Amino acid sequence: MSFEAALAACAAETDALLDYLLPLGATPARRVIEAVRYAALGPGKRLRPFLVVESAALFDVPRQRALRVGAALECVHCYSLIHDDLPAMDDDDLRRGKPTVHKAFDEATAILAGDALLTYAFEIIADEATHPDPQVRLTLISNLARAAGMAGMVGGQMLDIEAETAINSVLSDISLIQGMKTGALFRYACEAGAILGAADPAPLRAYADAIGLAFQITDDILDVESTPEALGKATQKDKVMGKATFVDVLGLARAKIRAAELVDHAVEVLEPYGNHTTIMRDTASFIVSRSK
Ligand code: IPE
Ligand code: IPE
Ligand code: MG
Ligand code: MG
Ligand code: MG
Repeated sequence: MSFEAALAACAAETDALLDYLLPLGATPARRVIEAVRYAALGPGKRLRPFLVVESAALFDVPRQRALRVGAALECVHCYSLIHDDLPAMDDDDLRRGKPTVHKAFDEATAILAGDALLTYAFEIIADEATHPDPQVRLTLISNLARAAGMAGMVGGQMLDIEAETAINSVLSDISLIQGMKTGALFRYACEAGAILGAADPAPLRAYADAIGLAFQITDDILDVESTPEALGKATQKDKVMGKATFVDVLGLARAKIRAAELVDHAVEVLEPYGNHTTIMRDTASFIVSRSK
């Protein structure tokens, strides 16, 4: 199967699973589940679930288990986007080609929908259907908590906001911020497959860290080079907000070179896995060549 077909198949399965896991009747609080569904069932790339599924495939994990962990991770990702877009954070009106959750609903509902998605992620993984071994589920839960929390995504978002008012951010600051705010969830996506397969997750870390960084560099390049119509979210924002990005420090041309180097590195570190990593190699290339 081609990379494009594999990504589309995984996105469709993830959408169907999220639709099933988030029924309108899940709570009498109709407004919050409507906002949750609005955010989670949007046209996202579903790259993080895809990485869970592909890394799990290396260890012959049943696909349905990987899809559940991918859906949980996507819930955390969607929560991070809802909160990232809030007026107190990046203050954005457009996400995935639609009004952001606080625009379509209101701020309080957006905050609660984010909270609901974050907590629900752990409920999904804790369910026996994710893996019969409770120790595996516990490892998946504690690693996700760490990746999403103050030493991971939340911490990275804090540093990202603080850097807006810093005088001069240097390359090491930016690598740290991006590694935490975006890299932590990518790393989790790649490790989850190994955890589900009772294998050592360490060898996939170098791949995950390289593509996570390349992913955020590309996000920052697209902010400069793309349009809201093509990207489905606002562009030309990072400069206005004073964001610390690779584009800001290196300039566009060198940021592109850095992203390409990271892809080469990601491909290199996959070598020990032999012929089974074609799709993961293509994923690394897609991460920097994507147009949205
Ligand atoms: C956007 O992530 C947020 C960042 C971490 C840069 P994606 O580009 O994966 O967003 P969706 O899920 O496809 O909308
Ligand atoms: C967001 O980074 C990373 C998150 C943890 C959500 P950005 O603020 O650059 O993401 P976009 O550009 O709004 O999608
Ligand atoms: Mg942000
Ligand atoms: Mg943002
Ligand atoms: Mg961005």
